Amino acid sequence: MDKLVVTGGKTLEGTVAVSGAKNAVLPLLAATLLTDEPCGIERVPDLRDVNTMIRMMETLGVAVERRADGSIETRPEAGPGAGDTTVAPYELVKTMRASITVLGPLLAKRGEARVSFPGGCVFGPRPIDLHLQGLRALGAEIDVEAGYIEARGKLRGAEMYLGGPCGSTVTGTANVLMAAVLAEGRTVIDGAACEPEVTDLARFLVKMGASIEGIGSPRLTIEGVRELHGASHRVIGDRIEAGTFLVAGPLTGGDVTVTGVEPRRLRSVLEKMREIGIEIIEGDDFVRARSTGVLKSTEIVTLPFPGFPTDLQAQFMTLLSIADGISIVTEKIYPERFMHVAELHRMRAKIRKEGPNAIVIGTDRLSGAPVMASDLRASAALVLAGLVADGVTEIRRVYHIDRGYERIEEKLQGLGATVVRAKDSDGP
Ligand code: EPZ
Repeated sequence: MDKLVVTGGKTLEGTVAVSGAKNAVLPLLAATLLTDEPCGIERVPDLRDVNTMIRMMETLGVAVERRADGSIETRPEAGPGAGDTTVAPYELVKTMRASITVLGPLLAKRGEARVSFPGGCVFGPRPIDLHLQGLRALGAEIDVEAGYIEARGKLRGAEMYLGGPCGSTVTGTANVLMAAVLAEGRTVIDGAACEPEVTDLARFLVKMGASIEGIGSPRLTIEGVRELHGASHRVIGDRIEAGTFLVAGPLTGGDVTVTGVEPRRLRSVLEKMREIGIEIIEGDDFVRARSTGVLKSTEIVTLPFPGFPTDLQAQFMTLLSIADGISIVTEKIYPERFMHVAELHRMRAKIRKEGPNAIVIGTDRLSGAPVMASDLRASAALVLAGLVADGVTEIRRVYHIDRGYERIEEKLQGLGATVVRAKDSDGP
């Protein structure tokens, strides 16, 4: 087990390139199940979650070759029975919920699928009722048996509303979209997720020969086609990784430029940073965040894209914990996504959780301490806190961070941070 040891007090300055977006790569890999031809995907980050998805694809009979330049090639295995496997096993699905995105393509391409029911995670239940509702609307027969989703049937286009109590579903939209592209006839998905990662998937599907209108909007219209061919695609930059590094600069009184991401994919985040008093400079594919010496309190409400992303809520809570005044953070997507609060308390942050709200009372300084990573983004928030805290912070169970951040300590070192990865001898 590894830990990160962060020594606070350094001002972060410089430029960092973001990796390909984890939450785009995962459905893109699943989409390669929809064709019998090879596909190429560029700018694939070396992450635990990506490696888990690659293992899932191999389990399902798709050969995946990683190249040194960060691209991968997928090739449906030839030979008898190679493409017959339609089971996504519990051992893999339990380690990564996003594996559920193989359900739609398996059903569409192979006519059946048996996918382990994904569990919840540390920040509460992660239902998939909308995924199943959408696939049933396309005519799939779906049952749950022994912890597995059993789906089968020939898919036919349908009109549907896919919104849930907390708005749209990102992977739910991906699953139903990937099923609809091979369904017979027209499908209309109202209430579709508009996250850039869903848009990236739709663009890849169009390159494969799918017919999709309304890409990037909450209403997707798909004309089913008989088959899809192979295609190549370059993954968009990871906007959440970008947002994390853009916080690190001003948090430490510094000046950080993030390259490889389009500002329009972070519009709500950049406007919030300006509200907090951070100077933001935008380019075609870079964003610069510069401290003005002031961090003002504000209010953050997480919403589906283009609203403020829940995946940056924890990182901004760290920023607001040393801002002037009292801030309010409201989680509309995952009301329990506050695992980072207890750990930030250990670092002298003053935060009170009130249901789906957190009241953050800005303090003059944070104090370094040993803390425990829990979920991917909460862990990133603790690393950020360590950068600005007095003394040393040890973040344990760093495997949570490695799920979504490629070589985070190297990228932070490149910006002047004192952070090292070490073996965590004692304890789990
Ligand atoms: C995706 O998860 C992301 N993961 C999450 O990022 C992200 O936090 C989330 O979208 C919200 O933006 C991937 O893309 C792999 P949802 P997903 O379905 O698709 C409710 C990270 O840190 N809902 O958009 O699982 C759900 O409870 C991860 O990279 C239903 O009610 O999220 C939630 O309140 C964490 N029924 C809301 O919708 C359903 O069938 C949004 O969930 C599905 C979802």
